[in-house]
Amino acid sequence: MARKKFVCGNWKMHKTVGEALALVAELEASLKEAAGRVQVAVAPPFTALKPVADAIGHGGSVELAAQDVHFEKQGAFTGEVSATMLADVCCTHCIVGHSERRQLFGETDESVNKKAKALLAAGVLPIVCVGETLAEREAGQTLAVVGRQVRGGLAGLSPDQIGRLTLAYEPVWAIGTGKTATSAQAQEVHAAIRALLRELAGGVADEVRIQYGGSVKPENAAELMSQPDVDGALVGGASLKADDFSKIVKGAIR
Ligand code: 13P
Repeated sequence: MARKKFVCGNWKMHKTVGEALALVAELEASLKEAAGRVQVAVAPPFTALKPVADAIGHGGSVELAAQDVHFEKQGAFTGEVSATMLADVCCTHCIVGHSERRQLFGETDESVNKKAKALLAAGVLPIVCVGETLAEREAGQTLAVVGRQVRGGLAGLSPDQIGRLTLAYEPVWAIGTGKTATSAQAQEVHAAIRALLRELAGGVADEVRIQYGGSVKPENAAELMSQPDVDGALVGGASLKADDFSKIVKGAIR
């Protein structure tokens, strides 16, 4: 069975509550025709999660994702938010292991793994990000790096658990740089990730969506998502404008 494409907008540290509400209202209006054909989520900053959840309601055309989580259930962890708290504000998904978290905030494969487990236990579906730096790509290490991140991030998960998550391949050199991987470069890595998932989880691998992220724009989205193992997109900058994001979502419909 064909995998339904899944496009998620990662708003990063952008949008006040008022701005977030204005953007989702525009998105909901322009995505009506795509509803049901493409799975769509947005990941606002923590402060806007609850207002956006209230605005989109259950079962609408747009789902809600968080950008990060702490792996403990509760406790003295100033500044952190638990998976239960995300479920409480109706997040269906949560991004983990984003390269900005890895590079700027000390995220490791081990913490990604703990976060994925905490999310699954709370009924929130992880979007696990992996991707190589430019130096790693130039040194021919892309598949080794991505393979290590997938194995580390998914360690100890059952095939059933792996079947519930989404992977996002985001080459670090393509994030926010305007440099997109070619569709062939993306497909090569996505196919390698799928092969690894098959090793880890058997036939479930064919159900797991693998998103591409890194300078996805209306101009390149359809071509990237036409690749057999590119099952959607994780979109940064272009997800901040309703018009661009809607065009990207529509690019997922064949
Ligand atoms: P850009 O689309 O701005 O390159 O960001 C990609 C990204 O990091 C999505 O998580």
